[in-house]
Amino acid sequence: MNDFRYYTPTRVEFGRGVETKAGELVKHFGGTKVLLHYGGGSVKRSGLLDRVIRSLDEAGVAYVELGGVVPNPRVSKVREGVALGRKEGVDFLLAVGGGSVIDSAKAIGYGLAYDGDVWDFYDYKATPAACLPVGCVLTLAATGSEMSDSSVITNEENGKKRGVNSDLCRCRFALMNPELTFTVPAYQTASGCADIVSHTMERYFSGAETVEPTDSVAEGVMRTVIEMAPRAVKTPDDYEARAAIFWASSLSHNGLTGCGRGGNGRVGDWACHQLEHELSGMFDVTHGAGLAAIWSAWSHYVMPAAPARFARFARRVMGVSEPDDEKAALAGIAAYEAFLRSIGMPTDLRGLGLTLTDEQLDALAYNCSFEGTRTIGSFRILKQADMREIYRLAR
Ligand code: NZQ
Ligand code: ZN
Repeated sequence: MNDFRYYTPTRVEFGRGVETKAGELVKHFGGTKVLLHYGGGSVKRSGLLDRVIRSLDEAGVAYVELGGVVPNPRVSKVREGVALGRKEGVDFLLAVGGGSVIDSAKAIGYGLAYDGDVWDFYDYKATPAACLPVGCVLTLAATGSEMSDSSVITNEENGKKRGVNSDLCRCRFALMNPELTFTVPAYQTASGCADIVSHTMERYFSGAETVEPTDSVAEGVMRTVIEMAPRAVKTPDDYEARAAIFWASSLSHNGLTGCGRGGNGRVGDWACHQLEHELSGMFDVTHGAGLAAIWSAWSHYVMPAAPARFARFARRVMGVSEPDDEKAALAGIAAYEAFLRSIGMPTDLRGLGLTLTDEQLDALAYNCSFEGTRTIGSFRILKQADMREIYRLAR
C-alpha cells in the first residue's frame, strides 16, 4: 500500500428536505452575502430555487443571483460572476445545480480571491492561493464535485477544457436530497452513472497493485451503480436507486476509492478523463457519455499491460467466472460495454454523433498531450501517438 493522505472536509447533509438547511449552513460557515449560482432553469422549474431563497431569508443571509451556467461551464460566465461578486461584496458562493454549477462557483471563488484573470489558474500560469468558501445544493448525481477538490472550466475562445485541483475549493457543505434528482432526464442520468463508475475506475486501474480495503470499497461502489442505474433510468422516482447513485457519486470522487493506490503524479490513471475533456472541450459533448464512448478503446489498448487487474474487475464487479486471466479480462470489458449500452450510453465516438477526420484525431491528441509536452495515464503511460491511436480505435 502506498502512503496516502485522505482529506474530505465537506459536511454532507443527506435526505429528504435537506435543501431547507442552506441558509443556516451558509451562516454557520461565516457567509453574510451569497452569490446564488445556478444553471439554465431546472432549479426554477422545480421550485428548488424558491425554497433555497426562503431558507436564506429565514437565516437573514443576503444574496445576489447569477444563473445561466451551461454544461461544460464557460470561463465567460465565471468572469461575469467574479465581476458581480466584487461589485456586490459577496463572501460566500452557493451553487444550486449539478457539477457544472458547482465548478463554476468554485472558479468564481478562486477569481474573487485573485487580482489577475481567473483563466490563469486553468492555463496553469498561476496556482490558486485562496478561494472564497463554496457550498452546494446538488441536483444531479455524476461528477462528485460536491466533495472533490476539482473545478473544470472551458474556455470557449479556444475550446480548451481544463481542471484545477486544490483543497481550497472543496465545498464547505453539500446538501443532497435524492428526490431533487427525480427530474433528471434518462440520458443525463445514464451519463452521470457512467461518470461515477469512471471516477472509481480511474483509481482502480491506477496500476496492477492490490490494495485490498480500497479495492473492495471500489468494487462495491461500482457494483452498486451498475445495479441501480437501470432502475433509475427506467423509474425516475425510485428513491432507493436515486439515493444509492447519489451517495456513490460522492464516494467515487472524494478520494476514498484511491487511498493507498498509485498514479502518475496524482492518485489514479485519469487517461479516460483527459481524453474525454478534449472531446467535450472541442465538441461540447456530455462528459459522462464522452467517457463511455472512449472507455472501450482505452481498455482494449491498455489491458495487455496487466490482464490480471482487468480479470479481477471482471470477476468481482461484472460476475465473470472464466479462470484464464486474459479471457476473463476481455469478458469483463464486453460485460461493461453491454451495461453501458443497456442504459443508452455510447461505446464509440459515432455513438456520440461524431464522425472524426484524421486531422481531428491529430488535433485531439496534440491538445491532450499539451502540444506533445506531457504523457497521461499510469496503468499504461500514454504518449501523444498512443492518445491518437485510442481516439482512432474509438472512432
Ligand atoms: O442547467 P440546468 O437547467 O440546471 O440543467 C442541467 C443541465 O442541462 C440538468 N440538470 C441538473 N440537475 C437537474 C437537471 N435537469 C433536471 N432535473 C435536475 N435535478 O442537467 C444538465 C447537465 O448538468 P451539468 O451540471 O452540466 O452535469 P454534471 O453534473 O454531469 O456536470 C458536468 C461537468 O462537470 C465536469 C464535467 O467535465 C462537466 O464540465 N466534471 C467535474 C468534476 C469535478 N469538479 O470534480 C469531475 C468530473 O470528472 C467532470 O470532469
Ligand atoms: Zn468525470
